[in-house]
Amino acid sequence: MTDRSADRHPQPQASRAKRLYIETHGCQMNVYDSERMRDVLAPLGFVQADAPEGADLVILNTCHIREKATEKVFSTLGRLKQEKDRRRAAGGQMTIAVAGCVAQAQGEEIARRAPGVDLVVGPQAYHQLPELIARSARANGVTLETTFTPEEKFDALPARAASGVSAFVSVQEGCDKFCTFCVVPYTRGAEYSRPAEAVLAETRALAAQGVREIVFIGQNVNAYHGGMSLAGLIRAAAQIPGVERIRYTTSHPNEMSDDLIAAHGEIEALMPFLHLPVQSGSTRVLRAMNRKHDAEAYLAIVEKLRAARRDIALSSDFIVGFPGERESEFEETLALVRAVGFAQAFSFKYSRRPGTPAADMPGQVADDVARERLQRLQALLRAQQLAFNAQQIGKRLPVLVDGPGRHPGQMHGRSPYLQAVHFDGDERQIGAVTTVEITAASLNSLGARMPAKAPA
Ligand code: SAH
Ligand code: SF4
Ligand code: F3S
Repeated sequence: MTDRSADRHPQPQASRAKRLYIETHGCQMNVYDSERMRDVLAPLGFVQADAPEGADLVILNTCHIREKATEKVFSTLGRLKQEKDRRRAAGGQMTIAVAGCVAQAQGEEIARRAPGVDLVVGPQAYHQLPELIARSARANGVTLETTFTPEEKFDALPARAASGVSAFVSVQEGCDKFCTFCVVPYTRGAEYSRPAEAVLAETRALAAQGVREIVFIGQNVNAYHGGMSLAGLIRAAAQIPGVERIRYTTSHPNEMSDDLIAAHGEIEALMPFLHLPVQSGSTRVLRAMNRKHDAEAYLAIVEKLRAARRDIALSSDFIVGFPGERESEFEETLALVRAVGFAQAFSFKYSRRPGTPAADMPGQVADDVARERLQRLQALLRAQQLAFNAQQIGKRLPVLVDGPGRHPGQMHGRSPYLQAVHFDGDERQIGAVTTVEITAASLNSLGARMPAKAPA
């Protein structure tokens, strides 16, 4: 509820808006959650701040996926504590909250080890933030809330406020796959699909606010089963006026149903780009990872996808140096990459995560070996990405314009294949799909120009 008494009796001191700074780490799920936390806190009078300095509430939305990400949480909290002390010395105050996957996995450790933290809140409790903040203001120590109630969370979150041309819509959370290297099943809990009606209502509300591209997200988005399949959901969303582009991420190869593959050939709004993590090209390593598919099965899916949509561009995630990975097995990963030809990819050195089965597997790979493999893999992936971008030169591509570019008069947009495109245009094009002619390519973006009009 909004308290309007300050409007009726203006008091310059008391009516100062409260400032909220959220720092987001990790995956698309955290990006989405940070937006939803802003929505939950807006009715309390919180406005967005761009830095922790001067903020009344700082939320650190954390990622637990690799050791480095987790370590960063404690160093960041150290810096925030200093800022909090400065504010206190000046007679002010600042509340520090830790959210996200580290909050879920190591909430008690944060409460113990990180001075200055007022509140620790797990990803399933964000709808309770107003109440938790009030509770922590009254409390002496740290307030901790890490229960798992995804159904309750989604029902209780307020309406979505759109900003921008493209928006994430969470359709599914959690994971039951238990890949042996991964913490997500422990930090996000069991798979939960939101009812299709709720997802479509959120999509309609976003489209009505000017959003043109909907990105359905979930840890296993293609395992969606909220009363219909993901393919069904995409078909329904494509009917919503204003929705011009649809994407989804992240998918698991074993959930790539024929129905979903067929949708790529049939639904014009569904963009020809798919992030489909494979992790390794070695069947033995894939088995040790509990991925439940082999390299051949992955290649067969790629073939089917390309039969449905000839120009589909593929992206993936790779882990090198998984326990027991031999040089010859790593080379099988390189061979798979050569066989597929990726438009883009993420690759990581295996990181040992406490509590996961792989952490205790024999044959942990030495860091220098893993680093060297990662360099070789990344060199190959970079070459493929550059070649894919260079292939677009001379083509005309429809670009969804999402904002200004790097210098005056320049606009920024995305190709169907998710490439960043820069071209000289004007701001009235923001929110529209414009056809441009690609003139240049680099590793991370394309240059383009508005096509010359055909002579009359
Ligand atoms: N299905 C998920 C995957 C989340 S993790 C999703 O929604 O995106 C993203 C990627 O991080 C994984 O695909 C994997 O390549 C990598 N990853 C996960 N655990 C890891 C670990 N212990 N060490 C290194 N990389 C890891
Ligand atoms: Fe992690 Fe595997 Fe689940 Fe992806 S599918 S979130 S990698 S356990
Ligand atoms: Fe990180 Fe949690 Fe996402 S561990 S990758 S923020 S689901």
